[in-house]
Amino acid sequence: MSARIIDGAAMASEVRAEIAERVRAHMAAGHRRPKLVAVLVGDDPGSQSYVKSKTQGCAEAGMDSDTIRLPAETSHDRVLAEVQRLNEDASVTGILVQLPLPPQVDEQVIVRAIDPRKDVDGLHPYNLGLLMEGSPYTVPATPLGVQQMLLRTGNDPAGARVVIVGRSMLVGRPLSVLLSQRGAGANATVTIAHTGTRDLGVVTREAEILVVAAGVPGMVDASMVRPGAVVIDVGVNRIADASRKSGSRLVGDVDYASVSEVASAITPVPGGVGPMTVTMVISNTLRAAGG
Ligand SMILES: NC(=O)c1ccc[n+]([C@@H]2O[C@H](COP(=O)([O-])OP(=O)(O)OC[C@H]3O[C@@H](n4cnc5c(N)ncnc54)[C@H](OP(=O)(O)O)[C@@H]3O)[C@@H](O)[C@H]2O)c1
Repeated sequence: MSARIIDGAAMASEVRAEIAERVRAHMAAGHRRPKLVAVLVGDDPGSQSYVKSKTQGCAEAGMDSDTIRLPAETSHDRVLAEVQRLNEDASVTGILVQLPLPPQVDEQVIVRAIDPRKDVDGLHPYNLGLLMEGSPYTVPATPLGVQQMLLRTGNDPAGARVVIVGRSMLVGRPLSVLLSQRGAGANATVTIAHTGTRDLGVVTREAEILVVAAGVPGMVDASMVRPGAVVIDVGVNRIADASRKSGSRLVGDVDYASVSEVASAITPVPGGVGPMTVTMVISNTLRAAGG
């Protein structure tokens, strides 16, 4: 079997066109243009490129955006003050503090300082709590993107056995809650695997839908995948590649070559979950604006 490739870049572009339509309607109804402000501390190339794609995505969706760049040595108090200023600025709809932050900045305090109504990453405990309760307001962007990818490719998780490898607060845990809740686009039977899981391959082979978010290049191979499963690879890992001019390339957590022979559908890396994550931040910004 050769898997269908789930093209996240094409899907993201479609979703952005839909958001642009909704932004036009929102503004036609007399509302202000939604605006996303990203706070970027330091000059990590990965973080810079994520923030750039989010601001480009905003432009495509007809929204305003701005990036506040702070040097890597910025103090915790200075970052906190910036977040508080953005909370109070009525022209700002959504605030995105790009993670990870440098070690002198307490990430948990910063995330908790964001006004939950402007928390477009959905990582504030208030938003995570609402998700847990089954009445989500802002859902973290990567889980939301994964859910959209399943629904938009006709792979409704309802009733399916889903296995998620990874239990981070950014991806695995909120995704498990999202897909196992009652209601449309969910109702799955979800198992979470992690480094404490015994016989990982036995667990992952149970999955009709397998989501891998571990941060370990190529850790899931064909022997760990049930034939016909839908495989969503969240992992983004930079590995050395002497054949590339840059000396490196991006790969996922799934061994794409072998798994695409047994899966029915698979997301590539790059061009899979990443563009949908960016687009869900933009969608969350429109939602925060009430659109
Ligand atoms: N495409 C996107 O938009 C997007 C967004 C976010 C993250 N990512 C990528 O997704 C990956 C995961 O990110 P994250 O923030 O969730 O990472 P993280 O915080 O490091 O969490 C990784 C999780 O995977 C589990 N894990 C690691 N190695 C494992 C193994 N050998 N067997 C079983 N479980 C294992 C860990 O288990 P323990 O809890 O037991 O340690 C942990 O729960 C990274 O490559 C990241 O770059 C991509």
